[in-house]
Amino acid sequence: MAEDRADSWLTAPIPAGQPSEIDTSVAHPARVYDYWLGGKDNFAADREAGDRVLAVTPGLRERVRAGRAFLVRAVRYLAAEEGIRQFLDIGTGIPAANNTHEVAQQAAPGARIVYVDNDPIVLTHARALLAGGPEGSIQYIDGDVRDVAAILGAAARTLDFTRPTALMLLGVLHLIQDSEGPHEIVARLMGELPSGSYLVLSHPASDIHPGQAEAQRRYNERVSTPQTLRNRAEVSRFFDGLDLVPPGLVYVHTWRPGPDDIVPPGGVSAYGGVARKP
Ligand SMILES: C[S@@+](CC[C@H](N)C(=O)[O-])C[C@H]1O[C@@H](n2cnc3c(N)ncnc32)[C@H](O)[C@@H]1O
Repeated sequence: MAEDRADSWLTAPIPAGQPSEIDTSVAHPARVYDYWLGGKDNFAADREAGDRVLAVTPGLRERVRAGRAFLVRAVRYLAAEEGIRQFLDIGTGIPAANNTHEVAQQAAPGARIVYVDNDPIVLTHARALLAGGPEGSIQYIDGDVRDVAAILGAAARTLDFTRPTALMLLGVLHLIQDSEGPHEIVARLMGELPSGSYLVLSHPASDIHPGQAEAQRRYNERVSTPQTLRNRAEVSRFFDGLDLVPPGLVYVHTWRPGPDDIVPPGGVSAYGGVARKP
């Protein structure tokens, strides 16, 4: 029965077994990322694509983990220090250690979280994402960041958009091409949130490591959704009209690091920042 209640917070039924739309013959971003993170929810095509990128990007696994650690620090900061109680996490990914709801609800047990992802494999893990917090505090939406109205409409079931909310877009906007208007998507999402809301964003960079162009080429040769790495100025534009919290837009591992945070030996290849809507 508890499962039935959890399922009522889904916008789509969790498929029984492996749903037919999971194509294991082509690499998918969520599964390649899971492979780099050391997870088990990936297939031969994902590992082959992931290894081809790893071959030209030594230290990538550590960089990916540093990106995940940024998520943890940003959520903890917002929940514990800024009093944020609502999180809209788009491009959730396959559950890993320290998912947004675990970090937020540890700091603030009453926090409400809505997850959104468009990959059917993430949907199969929705029950794991929904587990834990107080009933009704977590929702999973099978949705696409490009469909802003649908996401906001469904998320309004759990989040009160008259109250400050953290919009989280971590490692997802590089999967939106320039022609799809990624900056406009972020502006539209933030436009629906009240003053005092936050944007948490990380984005793989084109201008930190010289090898990134080759890594992008290899990724796009194999993975179903092509990536567009962006430079600092392009990533910075996502924060237009918002007030960046110190230290601003930085390499993700240098955003308010704690003593236990790893510093990848070769540095990171992504920018990250947290900003408040005035
Ligand atoms: C690299 S993972 C990042 C996961 C997590 N946010 C993190 O930082 O650890 C990117 C995720 O974005 C999802 N994604 C890609 N395109 C998307 C879209 N158009 N709408 C929603 N999610 C998308 C993928 O399925 C994948 O789970």
